[in-house]
Amino acid sequence: MMPAGVAIAVVDFDQSVRNRLAMQLGEGATTFGSVGELSSRLLGSPVVAVLGPSCAFGPELTAVEDLVRVHREVGAVLLAEELTTELLQQALRSGVRDVLASPVDTGQLVSTVQRVAAAVAPGPGSPGSQGGDAPLLPETGELGRVTTVFSTKGGSGKSIIAANLAVVLAQRSDRPVVLVDADLQFGDVAVMLKLAPQHTIVDAVSSIQKLDASLLQSLLVTHEGSGLLVLPAPLEPAFADQIGAEEMVRIIDLLRTFCSHVVVDTPAYFNDVVLGLIEVSDDVLLVAGMDIPNIKNVKIGLQTLKLLNTPMEKLHLVLNRANSKVKLEVSEVEKTLGIKATALIPSDVVVPQAVNKGTPVVLSAPKSGVTKSIEELASQFITGGDRRRK
Ligand SMILES: Nc1ncnc2c1ncn2[C@@H]1O[C@H](COP(=O)(O)OP(=O)(O)O)[C@@H](O)[C@H]1O
Ligand SMILES: [Mg+2]
Repeated sequence: MMPAGVAIAVVDFDQSVRNRLAMQLGEGATTFGSVGELSSRLLGSPVVAVLGPSCAFGPELTAVEDLVRVHREVGAVLLAEELTTELLQQALRSGVRDVLASPVDTGQLVSTVQRVAAAVAPGPGSPGSQGGDAPLLPETGELGRVTTVFSTKGGSGKSIIAANLAVVLAQRSDRPVVLVDADLQFGDVAVMLKLAPQHTIVDAVSSIQKLDASLLQSLLVTHEGSGLLVLPAPLEPAFADQIGAEEMVRIIDLLRTFCSHVVVDTPAYFNDVVLGLIEVSDDVLLVAGMDIPNIKNVKIGLQTLKLLNTPMEKLHLVLNRANSKVKLEVSEVEKTLGIKATALIPSDVVVPQAVNKGTPVVLSAPKSGVTKSIEELASQFITGGDRRRK
């Protein structure tokens, strides 16, 4: 559903392109052959303009920039056949609300248009009604809390825990919450949350010199079910090399200026990016599965962290698949590792079921033990205080 009082316009030189886009939108969009034609028909009421690939270069792109500068009531979404970093930066800086790769799938297009429509819709408090340059999300001056989820063992449940913790925090926080997928080669947060990202951390890093909070905000993808913002990992492992510790820390520092919580998922090994993340984090959740190889690896990980002078106060042990059936006592594990567990997450088939559905388990199985334990974990991050399990 589009907000009331917002018209939808589709612009492209090619009639078949604009008809296809109008059909995808299915909401009685009006079509125009050029940006100039649209401009001449504007009456000052809010419009979302979906600008086809013919608007993404040459004089039409200049016309788009003029359009959004002069008409604050127009929220523009630009489609481009070749989505380069230059185009992305230039368009977003000139006031275009989003740039998507063409051809675009219907779900993505509709959700983007809805988001932009909400921003330009008339009504108190909407950025469109103020007509100013206010960023989409307000900054409060208070820095968000950074939580990195780490383990020296693959498959221990880092991504499950990071994603679900972030979803619960997003549900409970008034301010934005962001999940950063820093498993740069094999990140699967986007798949777990069934997101089709248009932008990834690679875009943030390619613009690192000019990166500010509002440019970064425009690169985040929203998880519709919870409002969680996500900065996805590169779509191809080869891009991982482009992201160093310095860039990662810069991105986290910017995110915490407008988010109440920044949750970071990581790969299962130490590298400079992970060390940078651990250093800037307020909390590090060390995830261990309940089997001997897991515990052995986590012990080595803990020793490494101690060698690196990581303050022990910020390390919290999360035991995953902690059921009685596995014949490993929690107390034994705690004794071996020399640290008390902050959370115990049971093993439950609802977890892989949720992964395969692309829905976080806290939403698909809200009454499960897994959900309860993740909610309890989240509570410790919201209320602060004594975070160790008694
Ligand atoms: N508590 C749990 N109960 C059941 N299955 C789990 C649980 N935690 C994780 N899993 C399963 O293990 C797989 C690996 O988890 P994942 O979070 O991707 O690990 P990591 O990110 O540490 O490599 C998941 O796809 C999920 O199916
Ligand atoms: Mg993972």
